[in-house]
Amino acid sequence: MTRETSVHGEWSSRWVFILAAAGSAVGLGNIWKFPYITAEYGGGAFVFIYLICVLMIGLPIMMAEILVGKRGKHSPINTLKIVTAETKQSKFWQIIGWMGTFCGFLILSYYSVIGGWTMAYVVKVGSGMFSHIDMLHDKAMIVSQVSGVFNQLMANPQELILWHTIFMMLTMTVIVGGVQGGLEKAILYMMPSLFIVLFILVGYAMSTEKFAEGIAFMFKINFSALLFSDCVDGYCKFNGQGILAAMGQTFFSLSIGMGAIMAYGAYLPKHVSITQAATIVVLSDTLVAILAGIIIFPIAFSNGLEVNQGPSLVFNTLPIAFGHMPYGTLFGALFFILLVLAAWTSSISILEPPVAWMVETGRFTRFSATLVCGILSWALGLLTIFSFNILSDFKPLSQFAMFKEATLFDLIDFLTSNILLPLGGILIAVFVAWFLPKALLLEELQMKANHWVYRAWYFTLRYITPVGVGLIFLKSIGILA
Ligand code: PFF
Repeated sequence: MTRETSVHGEWSSRWVFILAAAGSAVGLGNIWKFPYITAEYGGGAFVFIYLICVLMIGLPIMMAEILVGKRGKHSPINTLKIVTAETKQSKFWQIIGWMGTFCGFLILSYYSVIGGWTMAYVVKVGSGMFSHIDMLHDKAMIVSQVSGVFNQLMANPQELILWHTIFMMLTMTVIVGGVQGGLEKAILYMMPSLFIVLFILVGYAMSTEKFAEGIAFMFKINFSALLFSDCVDGYCKFNGQGILAAMGQTFFSLSIGMGAIMAYGAYLPKHVSITQAATIVVLSDTLVAILAGIIIFPIAFSNGLEVNQGPSLVFNTLPIAFGHMPYGTLFGALFFILLVLAAWTSSISILEPPVAWMVETGRFTRFSATLVCGILSWALGLLTIFSFNILSDFKPLSQFAMFKEATLFDLIDFLTSNILLPLGGILIAVFVAWFLPKALLLEELQMKANHWVYRAWYFTLRYITPVGVGLIFLKSIGILA
């Protein structure tokens, strides 16, 4: 039943796979999302829980996903069909593929919108829009000018739609090219350049007056801020939302729980170490997120900028840095170009699973499948765009305290990151660690049963990952007291 190679092609080497998976993982989740939710949940404690989730949930599930993909060699939907048939397991597990594919549509819909913001900023920063702020000596004035640019963009649905359309078209173009023709080329140069620019920005952040404060905010662990956010008269109620957010961010940032990494695993040549590849991907993803925080918080604090401002944080912080830096216009444009590239290499991994599945049905060419999926997701994206302007007051679940302020974008984000991805993750962990034969796992991992890495992975995936995700999950949706 198992094939030697995937019908969609194969990565040309192990390193290309690692770059592609890292390209999927490293994206807006690291540079745009990680800093603002870290701020939302109070800093250090959130980072600490996040790192534990990465180790105990992220890494084991990533290995499991690559393993299943490598075995099935198809889109996640068909891979699950093939692997369940091969191992004579219930068809129920095929839900992993279906749910993941559905979740991908939702994620791509807003991912492309935010990708569009970063493209808009390439033009804004590159045209010197922020270069004059160096002349202003009043910090408050600088902050208000910079945030004015962002607010103006949000208030303009036409401009947002334009950038969203361009971003989606870029994503679709690469997907039409197929595995070797499209995906590989986009990624090869991006990752190293992104690291270089991030390190230069860390250098700048170090020169700001509140560098130490920024670092303390990120690494000083204050659990009460995270756990007890509902305090009245000194009496605090446990609030697990921050922990759920840290877990959701783990799934989102590592691209796990919906089959994106599984789809990439399907194009993996036979003799590649899954453990090594997954470890490198997880480490680089985490490093980029931490670097983003190290850059953004000191700059924000040094300029008297509120860090708890949600999705606008990066867009209101970094332009200040570029405005002050020598060659800031050039640098700023370069940074946002790299952010666009990072977002692009992630968005292609979200679009690949449904397109691969449609091609496998035999009824679509790669071109027509890409067109259908891209247009569907693009249309859904309009909901996110309108959440920032004409529908900004539309809070469909405002009767629930937790979603009182939630716009459509917030709800789609919550549903995907905090519910669907963790649910997909639990299912993958349980399927692999409880239902697949050990011999199959060992064959795919190319390990012996007594190898400590295998034993640690198997134990974690079997017990710690599902129980951990399950508890956080139940706690946060209020089933447990
Ligand atoms: N990991 C990506 C990021 O951090 O930006 C986002 C993402 C990609 C999520 C692929 C999910 C996915 F399947």
